[in-house]
Amino acid sequence: MKRKASEPDLGPSRPTMADIARIAGVSVATVSRTLAGSGPVSAKNQKLVTAAVGQTGYVVNEVARGLRLQRAGHVLVLVPNIANPFFSGVLLGIETALQEAGLGMLVGNTGGDPDREASLSRSLLTGGTDGLILLTGRMPTPILDAPRAAGRIVAVSEPIAGVPTVSIANADAAATATRHLIGLGHRRIAHIGGPADNALTQGRMEGFHTAMASARLSVPRNWVCLADFSIAFGEQAMRQLLSLRTRPTAVVCGNDEIAIGAIKAAREQGLSVPRDLSVTGFDDIDVAYAFNPALTTIRQPRHDFGQEAARILLSLLDGNMEVKDRLLPVELIVRGSTDRPREATRDGER
Ligand code: RIB
Repeated sequence: MKRKASEPDLGPSRPTMADIARIAGVSVATVSRTLAGSGPVSAKNQKLVTAAVGQTGYVVNEVARGLRLQRAGHVLVLVPNIANPFFSGVLLGIETALQEAGLGMLVGNTGGDPDREASLSRSLLTGGTDGLILLTGRMPTPILDAPRAAGRIVAVSEPIAGVPTVSIANADAAATATRHLIGLGHRRIAHIGGPADNALTQGRMEGFHTAMASARLSVPRNWVCLADFSIAFGEQAMRQLLSLRTRPTAVVCGNDEIAIGAIKAAREQGLSVPRDLSVTGFDDIDVAYAFNPALTTIRQPRHDFGQEAARILLSLLDGNMEVKDRLLPVELIVRGSTDRPREATRDGER
């Protein structure tokens, strides 16, 4: 039919399942079963349907399919800070596992704001998303006790009570980093960590204190600085530590970004790392090995974190409520940012 000059050109009409059925010479039900990948379809009919789909350029209407199947087809992941490379590693792992299951991933960056967490997470209650993966360390208020939320949420890195969680033993990991410095001969060791009310900060600080206490080493109160998992805070806290009359010879940092900031501040004061100051990080983000000096750090399995969380969520969505928390292993990676303290080498120990 000819289009009137005043009518917009909407392009050729989209092929329908009926068109595919007609071209393939099969029923609409066979086309539907083939496209959904469910129900019995002979190999011959699958071939005919696939060829007809290719010929017509048919695309599945995901909105209609979602309504029919009562699923959104994707999972929402809430992240406190998308700029932190630790989280992008976790996101890649989540996406890999979801893709394998034919699901998509949506990401909400919350900036640690509980109101934003609340507003984004509402989509779980309205059916706008099939499940939630939380890297935020707390349950968003609208979904506390909501029946639709049960069995649709997994926490990663920061545990949430009552929610299956994939995490690491933060205290043990920080104790390992601290013992590494003690083993090198350091006695004056400080700690710079994330926000004081954050569970990861608390775990890592606890590990630091445990290792120091086991070695009978004291930690002056002002040698523990907590505020933020950022380069800027690492820098600021290090400046403060270096302004003290008795300076530490080593610092255990709550993450790699803090460690990078601490090294920057030390260098600006003319100190050399690790000759004058040893620094450990936490995470092993990609820049940790490329930085100069390369960071001694605790490697967290970022990709595995994400994959494992997505698999647990998929298992929950399949109706398996028996899932357990997972504690993943970490590894101390020793690189150039740590060495024996200068005093030890000056005493002719090397
Ligand atoms: O939230 C910030 C930190 O927590 C990351 O750097 C990583 O250590 C995570 O566990």
